[in-house]
Amino acid sequence: MNVVLPPLALNGPTVTIRLFPRSLPLDRLIEIDTLDRQTAALLRACVTARINVVVSGGTGSGKTTLLNALSSFIDPGERIVTIEDAAELSLSQPHTIRLETRPANVEGRGAVTVRDLVRNSLRMRPDRIIVGECRGGEALDMLQAMNTGHEGSLTTVHANSPEDALSRLETLASMSEVEIPFHALRDQVNSAVEVIVQLQRFPDGKRRVTDVSYVASQRQEDFELIPVTQWNPHLQTGPGKNGGFENNPLPEGLRRRISDAGLPAADQWWSA
Ligand SMILES: Nc1ncnc2c1ncn2[C@@H]1O[C@H](COP(=O)(O)OP(=O)(O)OP(=O)(O)O)[C@@H](O)[C@H]1O
Ligand SMILES: [Mg+2]
Repeated sequence: MNVVLPPLALNGPTVTIRLFPRSLPLDRLIEIDTLDRQTAALLRACVTARINVVVSGGTGSGKTTLLNALSSFIDPGERIVTIEDAAELSLSQPHTIRLETRPANVEGRGAVTVRDLVRNSLRMRPDRIIVGECRGGEALDMLQAMNTGHEGSLTTVHANSPEDALSRLETLASMSEVEIPFHALRDQVNSAVEVIVQLQRFPDGKRRVTDVSYVASQRQEDFELIPVTQWNPHLQTGPGKNGGFENNPLPEGLRRRISDAGLPAADQWWSA
């Protein structure tokens, strides 16, 4: 539990309490309608096939919870480094190194940022790097890590759509002190990010995967996303029951990535 005391609340002292999210395995998320079975199978295959996945969503939409659930499919033989502002992830794999940031001391010294930790983690020979949330210049290090031998890395970003998530990563990466031309950043994002999972919190409190998209653009092209799964609120799924998941055929690039990893042809769980 994190207790945060805001220094300047105009309406008097305010305490906000941030509880650690409950751990909800993917099977439980299917039961509570956060995603359907096919999408869960696809995401599981993406993690096993070491596809770089970014979980995107608004505040409290369930990003960390889904990231945790997806992480459970990483092979226990792999060395995983998790990097977070406040340690919320709970991975069960034995070779997990958990790193947490540290604020500066009263003299303003000794801060350890997510950026410092991402850079440091690269010297730990990790197979996968999991960054709890990219919210600053560390996005650049994360993109570079995803592009250089740490495929299958996972992170979350605060954005309202998959398109927004890509632009946000590009903007965040430009916030690092390394000056990189914008077209080079586009190149980094296009090469690093392969799948975006969009979450949304609905007014009734339900969290849903509203979109799984494959990043089809390459190099310095404008972002192009192919939707694989989408939540359609108007789909009739039963008498008086509206809303359902629409699954599209897998984009060729994604299908190839999954089958190259030796996993069964995606058609088995996907109706084209
Ligand atoms: N699929 C879900 N269905 C219902 N409740 C959920 C679901 N996923 C998460 N929650 C609950 O929603 C709350 C927020 O979850 P979580 O911390 O994972 O969201 P987040 O998007 O990471 O939030 P933040 O933006 O603050 O980092 C928690 O109380 C969690 O138990
Ligand atoms: Mg979170």
